[in-house]
Amino acid sequence: MKMTPHGAIVTGAGTGIGRAIALRLAREGKRVALLDVNLDAAQEAAAAIRQAGGAAEALRCDVSAEPQVQEAIGAALARFPDTDTLVNAVGVTSPPGMPFTANTEADWDRVFAVNVKSAFFTSKAIAPILMKRGNGRIINIGSIAGLIAARPMPPYSVTKMAMLTLTRVMARDLAEYGVTVNAVCPGFVWTELWSDDMGRLLSAAAPAGQPQSTRDIFEGRVKELVPMRRAQTADDIAAAVAFLASEEACNITGQSINVDGGVTI
Ligand SMILES: NC(=O)c1ccc[n+]([C@@H]2O[C@H](COP(=O)([O-])OP(=O)(O)OC[C@H]3O[C@@H](n4cnc5c(N)ncnc54)[C@H](O)[C@@H]3O)[C@@H](O)[C@H]2O)c1
Repeated sequence: MKMTPHGAIVTGAGTGIGRAIALRLAREGKRVALLDVNLDAAQEAAAAIRQAGGAAEALRCDVSAEPQVQEAIGAALARFPDTDTLVNAVGVTSPPGMPFTANTEADWDRVFAVNVKSAFFTSKAIAPILMKRGNGRIINIGSIAGLIAARPMPPYSVTKMAMLTLTRVMARDLAEYGVTVNAVCPGFVWTELWSDDMGRLLSAAAPAGQPQSTRDIFEGRVKELVPMRRAQTADDIAAAVAFLASEEACNITGQSINVDGGVTI
């Protein structure tokens, strides 16, 4: 894959999909700033990159707070001034809906702040630099939950569709500067988002007397909903992100790739 050896910023890079993206981009030769609210996790991921011979910097940042984003992006640019790539991988689920009237204003505010406003904050901070470079990549992590009505978590579902619209809006604005903006929508990936949040959320919604482990719920969903009958991996998502970050993808913008084993066919 042809990739510039310049800096990349990945949010939510401490665990799961964000971590896999950071490691993959580093393997492709990029120097990576890993932003996460969980500094220990980001430091562990950065150490793994350095152990493999790459360059990485872990930065603590709550991406839902614009001043923290500005500070972290500033620190990332100070460390890797040639940064040309931003991956907005951070995402949190929302408390159970079913029906949607079960959700509160606070549920909506929190998930919008972390899942959507964060991408606005990071992109706003980096866009002027990419425009000046006349080259760059922004890649947003959406979800199949944005493309289908994910009844157990309405605010999450809506934020993931919003992420795709934000992707297209930014793609239009940045196209004339040589900056591409695309999205990747994962399907079912066994990460902490599933083992901690989603499993708990779906077991709460399960019929009484039918308790299931979160792993069983996950496997059941994969069997029921994924035509290819297999879960996706964080590395599958990282591979699609790496392609969109590569020089070969220079003419692709405003698009979304579903890495979901066919769920959305
Ligand atoms: N796992 C899946 O099946 C799946 C499916 C579709 C989409 N996604 C999306 O992929 C992305 C990554 O998900 P994942 O499964 O790896 O989740 P994860 O929970 O394993 O990792 C999320 C990371 O984001 C960090 N984070 C959370 N809130 C933050 C904040 N306010 N500021 C900074 N960092 C914060 C966490 O500390 C964690 O390191 C998310 O956008 C998610 O919506 C995941």
